[in-house]
Amino acid sequence: MKVLVTGGAGYIGSHTICELLDHGMEVVSADNFQNAVPETFERIEAITGQKVVNENLDLSEVKACQILFEQHPDITAIIHFAARKAVGESVEKPLVYYRNNLNSTINLLHFGTLAGVKHLVFSSSCTVYGNPGNQPVDEDSPVGNIESPYGYTKMMGEQILRDHIHSHPSFSGISLRYFNPVGAHPSGKLGELPLGKPNNLVPFITETAIGLRPCLEVFGADYDTPDGTPIRDYVHVVDIAKAHVQALLHIQQSDQRERFEVFNLGTGKGMSVLEIIQAFEQATGVALNYRFSPRRAGDVETIYANADKAAQVLKWQPEYSLETMMASAWKWQQHLANQR
Ligand code: NAD
Ligand code: UD1
Repeated sequence: MKVLVTGGAGYIGSHTICELLDHGMEVVSADNFQNAVPETFERIEAITGQKVVNENLDLSEVKACQILFEQHPDITAIIHFAARKAVGESVEKPLVYYRNNLNSTINLLHFGTLAGVKHLVFSSSCTVYGNPGNQPVDEDSPVGNIESPYGYTKMMGEQILRDHIHSHPSFSGISLRYFNPVGAHPSGKLGELPLGKPNNLVPFITETAIGLRPCLEVFGADYDTPDGTPIRDYVHVVDIAKAHVQALLHIQQSDQRERFEVFNLGTGKGMSVLEIIQAFEQATGVALNYRFSPRRAGDVETIYANADKAAQVLKWQPEYSLETMMASAWKWQQHLANQR
């Protein structure tokens, strides 16, 4: 099986490539490094002992996508990570987000199908549920009332895939709705590498702890939660990566019940921002400098997953503890500091 991993230089894509190679799958990546660095492939090689070919091209461009499948006519499945993902930036630059994220998905489906690709696994997000009332959220929870253009690109991406499958009986797809992927590869040699100031909580924590940032701002202490800070479902990135292998194995089975399926990927445990800070301090022994700030626009109060469907159908269950999530993120941050 030859798998095209789009966004293979990125955070989740790079960890997934390691898992795919570990399962003997052949991989080609397509990433134009708009939010990643080429050294990621050296890191993947250091971990797996295998070189991965990356095509440096913009998937939102029609011609580039066409050439990609001409150069790799034997791809059987696509895992589509490539997207812009900064929620706040998407509110400022919605067209950039719609153009990049939607055009890439459309081009991949169009040229991939022409080239004989049979399956696509789509990176979606819990953000498609908006601000849900009932917790935990399962896959039947209503989608919509989303806070950002980024979130709408995920909802629309799912719809585009669903419609394409409807019109192409030989094509099947899976949408994986990640909750909050955090942590790093256990080797400490691969992890999240935000270019510039991190948007996400855990990289901001580790950069503050190592001294690159003076202080973590906790966005809002007045939410209707036990300690006043928002609640999320943090899940280890290697667990998320493993779910992609399970999704590919499932999608190839002729008895796949439906040709388009959606799965939540989370631990089912909601943790507040303050609990995450505490977990980091406990796992690493490092005291974190933080202060409370006003709420961040677009943040939902509480969301955590019911991931029973992934357990039953994909035979996937997250294995890594919160402590390991924090300890591995810290090990990676220290590895980066030693390289400077
Ligand atoms: P990332 O930014 O680290 O990786 C995405 C990669 O795609 C980057 O390396 C970037 O250079 C590449 N890319 C983007 N647009 C491209 C284009 N047009 N052509 C070629 N390459 C392009 O992000 P990530 O955290 O690894 O996220 C992967 C996917 O998972 C994204 O679709 C994201 O929306 C989704 N997701 C992420 C999270 C999260 O918290 N990290 C949560 C839910 C869903
Ligand atoms: C959001 C989206 C997710 C998306 C991801 C990509 C939701 C529910 N989730 O995750 O789908 O794919 O962005 O980036 O919309 N926080 C701080 N200080 C910081 C950073 C974060 O207090 O410096 C808090 C946030 O307010 C939030 C929590 O930490 O309560 C997690 O934030 P973050 O890591 O950015 O993830 P989400 O916003 O949940």
